[in-house]
Amino acid sequence: MANANGASARMRVFRGTLIHATPEEAVKILEDALLGVQADGKIAFIGEGKDLHRLSQEFAFTPSSVTHLEKHEFFMPGMVDTHIHAPQYSYAGTALDMPLLDWLNKYTFPVESRFRDKSFAREVYTQVVKRTLKNGTTTACYFATIHTDSSLLLGHIADDLGQRALVGKVCMDRNNSVKHYKETCQESLEETRRFIAELLGKKYALVKPVVTPRFVLSCSGTLLGQLGQLAKNNNLHIQSHISENIEEVKIVKELFPDLDSYTDVYHKHNLLTDKTVMAHGCYLSNEELALFRETGASLSHCPNSNISLRSGFLNVRNVLNHKVKLGLGTDVAGGYSASMLDAVRRTLDTSKILSIQDPELETLTFEEVFRLATLGGSQALSLDDQIGNFQVGKDFDALRVNVAVPDGPIDLIQLEEPKIMLERFLNLGDDRNIVEVYVAGRKVVPYPKKPLC
Ligand code: GUN
Ligand code: ZN
Repeated sequence: MANANGASARMRVFRGTLIHATPEEAVKILEDALLGVQADGKIAFIGEGKDLHRLSQEFAFTPSSVTHLEKHEFFMPGMVDTHIHAPQYSYAGTALDMPLLDWLNKYTFPVESRFRDKSFAREVYTQVVKRTLKNGTTTACYFATIHTDSSLLLGHIADDLGQRALVGKVCMDRNNSVKHYKETCQESLEETRRFIAELLGKKYALVKPVVTPRFVLSCSGTLLGQLGQLAKNNNLHIQSHISENIEEVKIVKELFPDLDSYTDVYHKHNLLTDKTVMAHGCYLSNEELALFRETGASLSHCPNSNISLRSGFLNVRNVLNHKVKLGLGTDVAGGYSASMLDAVRRTLDTSKILSIQDPELETLTFEEVFRLATLGGSQALSLDDQIGNFQVGKDFDALRVNVAVPDGPIDLIQLEEPKIMLERFLNLGDDRNIVEVYVAGRKVVPYPKKPLC
């Protein structure tokens, strides 16, 4: 039943502390707030506790039905992992003893080739979606493998478990190290078209395809160009890797000696758009960053991976100064942790290391990094019209955080102000503190006993 505002009788209302980021304020705190979620999962209103009576009439809910957060609890927006390899979750936490190109040949390609087997894919993909949701990733931008049917399965599993996701069937027509882990250019294009058509055909509310050339070293110029055209014709998201490792950058120069830069290779193949997210970018020049800014393409900062594979450090302050959109990524399994809280901590560590090396460099604050993990990620994936913070009309993607959960990792000696609670959670918290996770208004953690419909 709808009232004059179109509000449904199934409005759910929460009362307590909200913490989120806006473009103006990296951490904005609303204490004793009221937040209403309508049946379609969108935020209907955000108000103050003192206005309970008026709001309950305006939005047709009964004050006694309001859910109250505890003193040590707050809601924050769900975190956005802008770069994660779902198949690599199967060996996360191992195999970090070599640099990128050797690591790909020795560990990554052999493991990814196993995802031809759909039952193995089902097992790993179910685990990675569950694990990331539990750790507060409400949106993930996934690389799958070259196998179309297993990649479709990842989309199905994300939909089934209620995670918002961009899913990419990986494209690669250049790889000499593992015999069967390669496509011809034509296969790659045909299978990408099939992947996109079939995934879109499922009409999942929260899961969409992303065109995924692995990186320049894995793709011929022809494949890059055709994928750029495909993305352009169908207004699709695009993801890849860029300028992660010095050796990689050198080979790209040798492969495309006539183009200005690594960024120019993607640009000339129509792969830099305002729906493109590129992982890493450690070695981008200021000119290349200017091209990112011009095209609206974004970067995914993956500090755990950059350190674990000894790739390099991204100067996030310089990226932000160039007004390039930027989110954080775990880059499992180059990054060993699937938790975005780890990405937050490694981002702060990297920024501190860079400012030890250059005292002129302004260190990132935890407030700024909180914004990158939430709103920044939504901007990097061009989803900020739907998610990223608490705004009327956006989807309610949220974490209910209890800083003082029994047997949890944080000892609260006294009740702290909300900003301190946030800081402690970001630095010390883990999935035990994330007591509920909502995606588009649906509670997806704790996992419902019955399958979601
Ligand atoms: N570059 C190309 N493929 C990959 C990958 O799987 N992981 C990382 N970190 N970089 C890559
Ligand atoms: Zn990656």
